[in-house]
Amino acid sequence: MSTSGSTGAGSSSEVPSEELHTFVRNLARQVGELQLSRYERPGEIKEKAPKDLVTEVDLLAEEFLIDRIRERYPDDAILSEESGGEISPTGHTWVLDPVDGTANFAHANPLFCACVSVVEGHRVKHAAVAAPRLGDVYHASLGGGAFRDTSGETHPLRVGDADELEYAFVGADVTRTFLNPGDDPLKRGVLEVFRSCWQLRSLGSAGIRGAWHASGYLDVSIGTRNTLWDYAPTVLLVSEAGGCVTNLSGNPWTYDSNGLLSTNNETLHAEVLRLIAGD
Ligand code: IPD
Ligand code: CA
Ligand code: CA
Repeated sequence: MSTSGSTGAGSSSEVPSEELHTFVRNLARQVGELQLSRYERPGEIKEKAPKDLVTEVDLLAEEFLIDRIRERYPDDAILSEESGGEISPTGHTWVLDPVDGTANFAHANPLFCACVSVVEGHRVKHAAVAAPRLGDVYHASLGGGAFRDTSGETHPLRVGDADELEYAFVGADVTRTFLNPGDDPLKRGVLEVFRSCWQLRSLGSAGIRGAWHASGYLDVSIGTRNTLWDYAPTVLLVSEAGGCVTNLSGNPWTYDSNGLLSTNNETLHAEVLRLIAGD
């Protein structure tokens, strides 16, 4: 039984898309406000794995999100970075990254965000990225366009028009392993992309990277992991802002993909894919 939904629906797949989108967008904004209330006070910081941090705020933000979603859409599935979960084989799943850019957040660097997505059958239907220290909420719905809310105004998003890598800003988190690729063909290919672009941006937040690509601040975004909660917003924001999105082999991105490539257009996409493939 829903306790606060205006329709009383237990599953978000039963409510009109616009109503669900408003909920997603507001939820992201609210959890962003929670993050901001603890900016410079991340609380206890633990290392889940070497150089993989989780702060007290990651856990508080996750609890906040899950409580709100359970209250409104109790029949939906939830997959969240810190507490796990499953993708529903049939209905909607909420995919959550309560704090993306935790290492930045733990250093009081302003580039952190919350990522909230609703997915169904390998399609991202709604997504929002709230970057509260920047004052921005980026959001998109499938077929409904991509937008940025800032200072009480809403602006449509459109990717940039660079169509040659030589003139492109590339966003990617450059780790030591990419600078020392050894014989790994993927890493060698990605390094070649870095060498061939105009400038590289390493932001430390996959969510902001995708949102900034959709906004035209970057022309290419490369992610090399398979963390759905990091990439789902980029898939929707960039495609709704007119860009191209695939996995790193040029095939459709799915939940199992080991990475995500987004670019401004097909010409640039083909050039980047050729370099990644080592051609
Ligand atoms: C990380 C950030 C970072 C990316 C890592 C992610 P987290 O997310 O998005 O930019 O390079 O792959 O794990 O751990 O801060 O949520
Ligand atoms: Ca993340
Ligand atoms: Ca996270």
